[in-house]
Amino acid sequence: MARRKLVYEGKAKILYEGPEPGTMVQYFKDDATAFNAEKKDVIEGKGVLNNRLSEYFMTGLNGIGVPTHFIKRLNMREQLIRAVEIIPLEVVVRNVAAGSMSKRLGIEEGTKLPRPIIEFYYKDDALGDPLVTEDQILAFNWASHQDLDDMVGLAIRVNDYMSGLMYAVGITLVDFKIEIGRLFDNDFQRLIVADEISPDSCRLWDIETGQKLDKDVFRRDLGSLTDAYTEVAKRLGVMPTNATQITKPTLIN
Ligand code: TMP
Ligand code: ASP
Repeated sequence: MARRKLVYEGKAKILYEGPEPGTMVQYFKDDATAFNAEKKDVIEGKGVLNNRLSEYFMTGLNGIGVPTHFIKRLNMREQLIRAVEIIPLEVVVRNVAAGSMSKRLGIEEGTKLPRPIIEFYYKDDALGDPLVTEDQILAFNWASHQDLDDMVGLAIRVNDYMSGLMYAVGITLVDFKIEIGRLFDNDFQRLIVADEISPDSCRLWDIETGQKLDKDVFRRDLGSLTDAYTEVAKRLGVMPTNATQITKPTLIN
C-alpha cells in the first residue's frame, strides 16, 4: 500500500487520510509536551497506551449513545476515525479544583467543587489557548448558541460516564479536556466527541492515596509516566501489564 497522505501533525498525534472518504487515520506518537511545548520528551510506549485507552473510552461512549469520532482501532498506534471539522475550542470539565483553576482563583488543589464546572479555551498555540467566555465565542463565531448547548450536553455526558468508570476502579476524575467536531451528514450537521480521551487530557487521582495517574506526572516530574498510564489501563482491564514493552524490536546478541 502506498504511504498514507499526512493531513495534520500535532504535538501528540498525526492525522493521515483515511481509506474511504469521510475517514481519517489517527496515529498516537510517544511525544509528550507540556506548557505549550516548553517542556518536551519522548516517552516510549505512551502512544500505544493512549491509543488503547482512547479506544476504550470512546467505544464505551458510543455504546451509551454519546457520539464520538472513533470507528475502530487499526493497530498498536493507529485508529480509524470519522473526519470532522474541529471546533477551535477546548472544552474542560472540572469536578475538583486543580491546575489552572486553582492558580487563577486561588482555590486549593483537591477542593471538591459544588458542581461540575465547564470552561472553554480558544485553541491557539500562539496565544497559549486562552480561557474565553461564551459571549466571545458567539461574537467571534467560533460556535453558535446551538453548538454551545450541544457541547455542554456532550461534556456533561462524558463527565458522567468517565467519572463512574474511574470511580469503579478507585480513581477520581478531577478534570478533563475534550475536543468536539462537526460531522456533516448531507445537509445535516451534528457535533461529536473527537480527538482523544486519555490520561494526557484528564487529571486522574487515586482515591485512597491521591497519587497522580495522568500527565501531571510528566508536567511536575513525579516519576514514570508510562507506569502511571499502565496502572490506569490495568485497573480498567484494558491492557495486559507489560504490553507496551514490545513496541520496539530488540537486538538479540
Ligand atoms: P488546566 O488545569 O491546565 O487548565 O487543565 C485542565 C484539564 O485539561 C486537565 O485535565 C488537563 C487538560 N488539558 C489538556 O488536555 N490540554 C491542554 O492543553 C491543557 C492546558 C489542559
Ligand atoms: N498544553 C498541553 C498540556 O500541558 C501540552 C502542550 O501545550 O504542550 O497538556
